[in-house]
Amino acid sequence: MKTLSSLSDMTGRRVLITGAVGNLGRVMAATIAELGASIILLDRPGSNFANLEEQLTQNWGIECLCIECDLELERERERAIATIKADGKGLSCLINNAAFVGTSSLEGWSAPFQHQTHSAWRRALEVNLTAPFHLSQAFTNELRAAKGGNIINITSIYGELGPDWRLYEATSMGNPAAYGASKGGLVQMTRWLATTLAPDIRVNGLCPGGIFRNQPSEFVERYEQRTPLARMATEEDFRGGIAYLASDLSSYVTGHILRVDGGWSGW
Ligand SMILES: NC(=O)c1ccc[n+]([C@@H]2O[C@H](COP(=O)([O-])OP(=O)(O)OC[C@H]3O[C@@H](n4cnc5c(N)ncnc54)[C@H](O)[C@@H]3O)[C@@H](O)[C@H]2O)c1
Repeated sequence: MKTLSSLSDMTGRRVLITGAVGNLGRVMAATIAELGASIILLDRPGSNFANLEEQLTQNWGIECLCIECDLELERERERAIATIKADGKGLSCLINNAAFVGTSSLEGWSAPFQHQTHSAWRRALEVNLTAPFHLSQAFTNELRAAKGGNIINITSIYGELGPDWRLYEATSMGNPAAYGASKGGLVQMTRWLATTLAPDIRVNGLCPGGIFRNQPSEFVERYEQRTPLARMATEEDFRGGIAYLASDLSSYVTGHILRVDGGWSGW
């Protein structure tokens, strides 16, 4: 029987994380680095890669490649894909994490339904759903050739459930239709890819519940009351799920959406 430490050992593997410089992205990067894999950090041009790269290489002695790419633009995605393929080091795991999130300051986004714009809808769909499709397709050969090749899509409770608007009353917070629709699409694409790419590549989703980011106190209170585990998430809550899905700890798991939501979806 293999030990748990050998099953979670990702030495010799390479993992691409999109939106890696973001709040969840950097915690996932540290988690994967601790398991020994080298990492490709991809985020928007101008993102602050330097601190994260230094932290990962110094703390864990792993190799780190930083790629600036606006995932909204197909030609930029093509360029990033070509850069990653060029060194021939392959890819063992693709984590589709980048997204227009609820708080993105896009016009016509976090607004009441009648003010949500078609342009914001299209842009969100491009980043949250089309980019994961494009990257998954582009790296299929590399993931097939890799030991333990797998894809992890970061979804959301709002990809499976409608928003409970009572939580938002008297706050300026929003929950755009395009966010839920794009995440719902990502949930279904996870299942579609899982059966399509089997048995070579596993494809799973990690579904976070709301993460505490200093939201208005009335929202936090209501959110806590509605959550069986009685609190919002912290980024650290997702480390176990990412380590499990990315490594051979989950080698017989595909097409699964792992909800890490404090029980939010359990009622
Ligand atoms: N924060 C939450 O409560 C929550 C809840 C459920 C799901 N999620 C999901 O978790 C993931 C990470 O969210 P987060 O809370 O860390 O958000 P975040 O805003 O801190 O990070 C998102 C990252 O994606 C990057 N990104 C956005 N658009 C991009 C583009 N066009 N090209 C390249 N990079 C781009 C951003 O620069 C950022 O670094 C997202 O998929 C989000 O939908 C978050």
